[in-house]
Amino acid sequence: MARTQVAIIGAGPSGLLLSQLLHLNGVDNIVLERQSREHVASRIRAGVLETGTVDLLLQAQVGERLLNERLVHEGFALGFAGRSFRVDLKHFTGDAVSVYGQTEVIKDLTDARLAAAAKLIFDVRDVGVEGFDGSQPVVRYSHDGRTHTINCDFIAGCDGYHGVCRRSIPPGAAQSFERIYPFGWLGILADVPPVAHELIYSNHERGFALCSMRSLTRSRYYLQCPLDENLESWPDPRFWDELRRRLPTVVAEALITGPSIEKSIAPLRSFVVEPLKFGRLFLVGDAAHIVPPTGAKGLNLAAADVRVLYQALVEFYRTGNGDLIDGYSAQCLRRIWKAVRFSWWFTSLTHKFSEDLFAHRLQLSELDYLTGSDAALTSLAENYVGLPFERAAKRA
Ligand code: APR
Ligand code: PHB
Repeated sequence: MARTQVAIIGAGPSGLLLSQLLHLNGVDNIVLERQSREHVASRIRAGVLETGTVDLLLQAQVGERLLNERLVHEGFALGFAGRSFRVDLKHFTGDAVSVYGQTEVIKDLTDARLAAAAKLIFDVRDVGVEGFDGSQPVVRYSHDGRTHTINCDFIAGCDGYHGVCRRSIPPGAAQSFERIYPFGWLGILADVPPVAHELIYSNHERGFALCSMRSLTRSRYYLQCPLDENLESWPDPRFWDELRRRLPTVVAEALITGPSIEKSIAPLRSFVVEPLKFGRLFLVGDAAHIVPPTGAKGLNLAAADVRVLYQALVEFYRTGNGDLIDGYSAQCLRRIWKAVRFSWWFTSLTHKFSEDLFAHRLQLSELDYLTGSDAALTSLAENYVGLPFERAAKRA
């Protein structure tokens, strides 16, 4: 039987970052991951980091390659009505975002954890979490055909939307809030130079399109698509044709195409569970909340949870004071709901929800208003770069 201070379920960005920050601050932890290391490393997700996320990765001592290889973007474009409008993030907020793929974040974190001889166990099966409503939580799992038990002080549920931790909270003790969108994103990755230096979010009557990138030679493009779409009906030429049609003409003309190296479809969802803490179990990142990818808040929100939780746990182990731990849920939820609102709004503004032409005219009118109003642009920009972090609630 093993013993640790914090048992972390899931080695996605949330679990790895929490593990690293706790380790650097002297808190012992074990990470259990269902998938193989290779599988976790190969998942392609979003690639835009807020400055607060970059700062946290620097604190976690995994920022060196990030600082060397990231692309700093001081703006992005909104495409609509055949034209392209640049949102000047730097001008409106003094801040910028960093383009650096989640795949790279995972690689940096995994390398750092393994270099520090972390207890990071991949390919585990049948994880079960128990006893977290009392003072002695227990985690059971199987690995290499044997069953194992970990006794711990706390369990961090960093196991994503489909994980076991949220489902282990007794019925009635938590409430969830959800919105399913009637479309998905069809994404491709291709080794071609990006069509523009900055991202382009394009509203079009045929549906939304996004031009993004991973580097100056690797592009990531998305098209809004029906939920029941299948990948076989989207050979590369069809994807590129449809993308061109949904972009402002000057952008479409500059598009460089090439063979895709990855293609996938993801549904869009908003989801929040409340509270994020049940006894000695914490929900972190995608286990607790999902946002649609418009605005790239998912990873940043996960990092924001980790920032609050690691500080609360470190404070507890240093001083015995559990106030920050008790405030974890309320503090995170304020930021989460703001990001849920922003991601929902940005999705609503840019996507096609129906054939309703009135609704499309309203979107165009809102885009016209937005791009003509410094007040509205400031609001968009400050949400996009990431709202400031609140200070933890003062102790009584
Ligand atoms: N036991 C162990 N591990 C599990 C279990 C389980 N029962 N269920 C899920 N996992 C693992 C998954 O295999 C995955 O590696 O938990 C991890 C959860 O990782 P993510 O889903 O990436 O969630 P999170 O770390 O919170 O990251 C949030 O990253 O994944 C993106 O879109 C997401 O950008 C968001 C951010
Ligand atoms: C991405 O590059 O994958 C990406 C960028 C911005 C978004 C969503 C996804 O808003």
